[in-house]
Parts: sequence; C-alpha cells; structure tokens
Amino acid sequence: MKIVTVVGARPQFVKAAVLSRAFAARGGAIREVIVHTGQHHDPNMSDVFFEEMRLPKPDHHLGVAGGSHGEMTGRMLEKLERVLLEERPDWVLVYGDTNSTLAGALAAAKLQIRVAHVESGLRSYNRAMPEEVNRVMADHVSSLLFVPTPRAVENLREEGIAGDHVVPVGDVMFDAARHYAALATPSPAVRDWMAASGGGHLVATVHRAENTDDPARLAAILGALGDISATRPVVLPLHPRTRKAAGAWSPPATLHVVEPLGYLDTLCLLRASAGVLTDSGGLQKEAFFFGKPCLVLRSETEWVELVDGGHARLVGADRARIVSEAAAFLGRDLGEAPALYGDGRAGERIVEALLRA
Ligand code: UD1
Repeated sequence: MKIVTVVGARPQFVKAAVLSRAFAARGGAIREVIVHTGQHHDPNMSDVFFEEMRLPKPDHHLGVAGGSHGEMTGRMLEKLERVLLEERPDWVLVYGDTNSTLAGALAAAKLQIRVAHVESGLRSYNRAMPEEVNRVMADHVSSLLFVPTPRAVENLREEGIAGDHVVPVGDVMFDAARHYAALATPSPAVRDWMAASGGGHLVATVHRAENTDDPARLAAILGALGDISATRPVVLPLHPRTRKAAGAWSPPATLHVVEPLGYLDTLCLLRASAGVLTDSGGLQKEAFFFGKPCLVLRSETEWVELVDGGHARLVGADRARIVSEAAAFLGRDLGEAPALYGDGRAGERIVEALLRA
C-alpha cells in the first residue's frame, strides 16, 4: 500500500512522526511518501522537528509559504495535484486543520484518491477561525476519519457523517508525548533557564490569528503575561506570526521571551512547569498529559473535555482575568489525569484501519 502524507505546519510534524514510526514497524506493508508543503519553513519551526523526532526527510518539498489564505492554499493545491498524479497513492493522509490539511484533502478528493484524516471531528463552532473551515472541509471529503475523542464522533454524527469509516483511535499527540517524553532531555539553554528561574515556572504561547491579528487582544495577552512574570517565572517561545504582529513591543525584563522551541525542549519545560497559558490546541492537551493546569487564551476550545473535567479554563483575552485566573488556578495539583485521549496506541490503530480498508 502506498500512502502520501501531507504535512506543512509544526503540529503536523509531531503527529506524522507517530505514524511514520508505526508504518516502519509494519516492515514493507506500507510505503510512505512525505510531502512538505513549506507552510512552516524556519529551521526552528520545521527542521528541528524532523531531526528530533527522526521523521524521514520529505520526498517532495513544495516551497509554499506566506500570502493570503486563498493564495497559500491555491498554490499548494496546484503543486500537490502534480505530486499526486506522479505518485498515484492508494491514500492521502492529512492531519489536523491547517491550510496544508485542506489543500492535501482537496487535491486528493478531486483526483478521486481516498483521503484519511487524522484528528477528525473536532469543532470550535466558530467559522471565523480559518482552522474550523479547514477541518470541516477535510472531514467532508475524507473516506477514513480518525477521531481522537467521543465528542468528535458526536460532532461528526451531527453533520451526517457516521458509520464504519469513522474510527475512534485516541489522540496521536498522546502517543507522541508518551514516547518522546521518555527520551527528552532539555537543551543547555532551557536547562540553565529552568535552574536559574528557581522552579514553578509557567509556559506561555500565543499564535492564533484571532489573537495576533487583533491589536487590542494581543496587547492584553502580552500585558497579562508581563504582569504575571513579575511574581513568577514565565517563558514565552514566540511564534513568527506573533513576533511580526507585536511589532515594537518590548517585553518586561522578567518575561523570558525566546525563539520557537523544538518538541523535546517543549516537553521538558511543560513537565517541570506549574502550568500553561496558551491559545494552541496541542499545548492545551500536552499540559493535561503532564497533569498541569491550563488557561486557554480563547473564548472556546475544540478540546471541551479539558474544560468540562476542570483541567483547563477559558479566559479569553481579558488582561485582568488572565492575571487573576493565573494566580488562582496555575500551580494547582490536579491529581491523576483520566484517560481522555486513549491509551497511547492511536498510531497503531490507524495503521491497522488503513491496512483493513
Ligand atoms: C498555522 C495554522 C494553525 C496552527 C499553526 C501551528 C493555518 C490556517 N493555521 O498557523 O492552525 O496551529 O500553524 O503553528 O494553517 N512564518 C514564518 N516562518 C515559519 C512559519 C511561519 O515566518 O516557519 C510566518 C508566515 O510567513 C506568516 C506567519 O508566520 O506570515 C503565520 O504563518 P502561517 O503558516 O500562515 O500560520 P500560523 O499562524 O503558523
């Protein structure tokens, strides 16, 4: 069986690494061809993940990055079609909800190549988010939908998608965190900062368009992180989108702003942290995997079970609220985490389902 995997953005490299290992474990039964769209291209947004996670080098690199959503997606679509015509795979595998996901799913569906969507069925019910449009479209053209949670099965059913092709497998991010946390040691820079900060640090990330593209929201969030850093250590690995949007912002000396980090450093920082503030979907769950409380810098989340279970709180972009919730919630011991995201074998289940289909 031949599979073309389409990746392009940071979280997809993490998810694809899980599947690449699972494919390799099946010997020659599956031949995987990796296509990197180029959406994320900086060394610390892309190469570091391939190296750390031993993801095989892409067979095709499309070099498409930047531009408007339509422009980026359109250029990917055109180039992906050429690759798919050349490779003629049995399946195209796409992950999550980025523009690369949409382009991969659409290019394949138009050529009548079957699409398998990993992390299917998630919904924020906010169509202003580019990710929501991407994930709805990808789900509706997919022949196999790998869902991480019972709620995702329900979401799909409400849209008329139900049946054997909807396969609950758990979350590949949980597989990844379990596997790589066992191998992860911090880089010297991260180790030294953790030692100097004296423990109890918080990890913060901001990159979602609804926050970065609205100057008032971004100023409130960055202001809150600065306020919090006056009383406890906060590290903020800054996404290029956020760096651009922040313009001339100069962080207070107490806020530790760094370049985007690799996956292993991120895991090390999370594991030793007192909590997380983020608008990233991946980081919300990674906080949970390590039993850390998380403040979600949005007004809704796709990972509703985290909020329902008291593991995360939605705080939006209100400066005073973020500061007070950080004081009240972060640092709490949340006790043993329930198995909301499967058992760490999502990757194996996906491979089995693909071989059966
Ligand atoms: C994208 C995804 C988002 C995902 C995130 C993970 C979409 C619509 N959004 O958002 O769902 O959570 O990736 O990080 O697909 N840039 C660089 N260097 C890079 C990467 C990006 O300079 O290596 C710049 C781009 O040129 C652009 C900005 O950062 O100006 C944003 O990048 P883009 O890929 O458009 O979206 P993300 O915000 O990363």
